[in-house]
Amino acid sequence: MTKAQVVAQLLPSTYAPKETGASFAPTNIALCKYWGKRNTELNLPATSSLSIALPGKGAFTKVMLSTQAEDTVTLNGLSIATNTSFYRRLTQFIELFRKKVMWRLHIEIQMTIPVAAGLASSACGFAALTMALNDLFQWQLPLRDLSILARLGSGSAARSLWSGFVEWHQGEREDGMDCYAEPLSMQWPSLCVGILTISQKEKFLSSREAMLRTVKTSDLYRCWPDKVQRDLTQLKRAIHEGDFTTFGMTAESNALAMHATMLSSWPPICYALPETLAAMQQLWELRQQGIEVYFTQDAGPNLKFLFLEESKPLINKQFSNLDIIYPFKQRVG
Ligand code: PMV
Repeated sequence: MTKAQVVAQLLPSTYAPKETGASFAPTNIALCKYWGKRNTELNLPATSSLSIALPGKGAFTKVMLSTQAEDTVTLNGLSIATNTSFYRRLTQFIELFRKKVMWRLHIEIQMTIPVAAGLASSACGFAALTMALNDLFQWQLPLRDLSILARLGSGSAARSLWSGFVEWHQGEREDGMDCYAEPLSMQWPSLCVGILTISQKEKFLSSREAMLRTVKTSDLYRCWPDKVQRDLTQLKRAIHEGDFTTFGMTAESNALAMHATMLSSWPPICYALPETLAAMQQLWELRQQGIEVYFTQDAGPNLKFLFLEESKPLINKQFSNLDIIYPFKQRVG
């Protein structure tokens, strides 16, 4: 099964383009991570995963039909050269939807987060682009189908179409039609996510490469699917019961286990910088003093803290440069 075959199953036979399509997609931070694929072509994950969306942090994308010979892309107002990997990844995705009619697009992306630094820029990027295309061509697809399409651009993009908590189901089918995300109905108004930016540099190894290497070479990876299943159940129960201790502990332990599978790969993969480890130690000290704060980390050196609003003043005192987000109190776009 190819990406093009999946697209053909979901899209209408003719498009009815408007002048402009536009959308915003929030970035999402996984609390129970997606790490490893069962199908690399379709980005079908080895396990399910669970994330939280960050309102206000994401991608605003506008798409227009163009008369140029090639697609044109701007990112935060700057034109993207056609020989960059960013341009190629984007246009390869667009190619899936082109069918026989050779239209070209002008794409304008405004990102409110750094690109490729472990803040899920590809997740919100592909989700916003998919929704903007749905708007431009008036496909009127349900969000579930858009989640499947966004996944073809980047796995975690499947989760970036909603606010709040989102679960991405691993599915079983070869064509991935049962592999989509959907939102959980539960809210947690006092929940805070703090972004600790340690470096904005692009990651040295893409998550795609890192996942492949981990699955292939890490002995610890064998334990990962069972760990995810336990953590997912525990996280959903903790969210349901408002049990912050279990919630934070499970998310932190899940992130550390994911990084342990990477450290045990060969050649080893380590996204942490010395400053990342120093911040973890500082956070663990705070926790020993009785302040409930936990962290999660993705494919980059930056950390995302999880805490409740009541602990904010004390945490802010230790980490004054924390960018604090209220996932359930702020407007999404
Ligand atoms: O969707 P990708 O290929 O960027 O992979 C995302 C991987 C992690 O961010 C580390 C985990 C996750 O579930 O988002």
